[in-house]
Amino acid sequence: MLDIDLNASLARVTATGLAPGMMDDLAGPVAGVLANLRIQSPFTGWVDLPLLDQPAVDAIEWAGRLPVGIDQAVVMGIGGSSLGPLSVYEAVHLPDLQTFGALRPPARRLVFLDNSDPDTVDEVLQGLDPRKTAYIAITKSGSTAETASQLMIAWERARQVLGEATARHFAFVTDPQKGDLRVLARRLGVRAFDVPPDVGGRFSVLSPVGLVPCAASGIDPTGLLEGARLARKACIEAPLMQNPAALLAAVAHLMDTRLGRNVQIVMTYSDRLSRIGAWFRQLWAESLGKRDLSGNAVGPTPLDARGATDQHSLLQLLVQGPPDKFVIFLDVSSRRDCRIPRVFEDLGSFGYLGGRSLGELIDAERRGTAASLSLAGTPSITITVDDASPATVGALFYMFEVATAVAGGLYRVDAYDQPGVEEGKKLACGLLGRNGFEDKRKQAEAWERSHDPAMIVGF
Ligand code: PA5
Repeated sequence: MLDIDLNASLARVTATGLAPGMMDDLAGPVAGVLANLRIQSPFTGWVDLPLLDQPAVDAIEWAGRLPVGIDQAVVMGIGGSSLGPLSVYEAVHLPDLQTFGALRPPARRLVFLDNSDPDTVDEVLQGLDPRKTAYIAITKSGSTAETASQLMIAWERARQVLGEATARHFAFVTDPQKGDLRVLARRLGVRAFDVPPDVGGRFSVLSPVGLVPCAASGIDPTGLLEGARLARKACIEAPLMQNPAALLAAVAHLMDTRLGRNVQIVMTYSDRLSRIGAWFRQLWAESLGKRDLSGNAVGPTPLDARGATDQHSLLQLLVQGPPDKFVIFLDVSSRRDCRIPRVFEDLGSFGYLGGRSLGELIDAERRGTAASLSLAGTPSITITVDDASPATVGALFYMFEVATAVAGGLYRVDAYDQPGVEEGKKLACGLLGRNGFEDKRKQAEAWERSHDPAMIVGF
């Protein structure tokens, strides 16, 4: 289902790569992290999510009972409450969406609102007929301002059309006990799905956070779990040198800490899978970019890129820019193909393509890019998966989650918190006049007053 090719990260293939023996010291620490993942702790509930069938059964049952005529759903959530389900949705439906802008029944179109930009939120919510729409609000904490405000707008607009039937069009995904979304679910009589308390936002895609939107759009969420179960077998028990997740973590960690390859780019050669790059970027950045146990600022800077498109955008920088890059190629071995006809044969730029296929072209482009990077001294690894099915996506999610947990152990950081994100939220609450945040308002305003107007230049 998935393999990881380390060759281009090693000095024998890429001169600037890992020297023999560099990995040896990591086997012990990696085994320690994996052993800890196998015992329950307050934040590692995600490890066993693939083993839980009931949440998928519940999601399918809920989706099957949505009021007749609902052919689309709005998903309101941000960060870990959005990027995972969006990745699965695009893996399954992207080509149809690009072709038709809608999906053929019984599949339902999902619209992901993951921002507070009124240009999008207002337009989308105004453009949808509530009688044909389901609304899924996802927030583990139950308190995220972007999601809360979208929900308030969506609820009121839907209520004006649906009246007493409004609650039947909504579903909430949140903590089983804590948070105001849970309070609201009880008050409004809205169906609520649980995100287990020991599962953090960016590790939650295999919980109802991912399962409910999948079911709403007609994707069988049990496929995701099946793939994740295979990945669990391969990534939780196996020692470093036989474990794709641990190897990814170890190589990426060494690239950063020993070889100065701090900028780590997931470059996906499959449109269906390319959103996984954005999901991974959040997981890697928010889990690893922080202070370690000694107080040092650590962590790689993840980027995501789409091949072959970004060969015409980022590649120049990756080949000749500062030697701080490490590329993680993500490729798919089986996909639909499309023959290129033998036309314009007399023209050199066209003739050689005739009779080949787009699949051969994108494959050659990936291989050519990997070789050119390696020859120029930029190391890489290549992860290849069988296809872009939900099972494969589930396996990828799980493999990347284990890799992140292992990397967290190697960096000696808490991979499950995000203290750096909290301060900005508090300052924004202060600026919006939320009770209890008066000091934050003063702090934000004082900071703005410290600005010199002469330093604002424009035309
Ligand atoms: O990983 C995390 O915890 C965050 O990225 C959250 O997913 C994000 O902030 C959204 O949080 P919530 O689900 O509580 O609305």
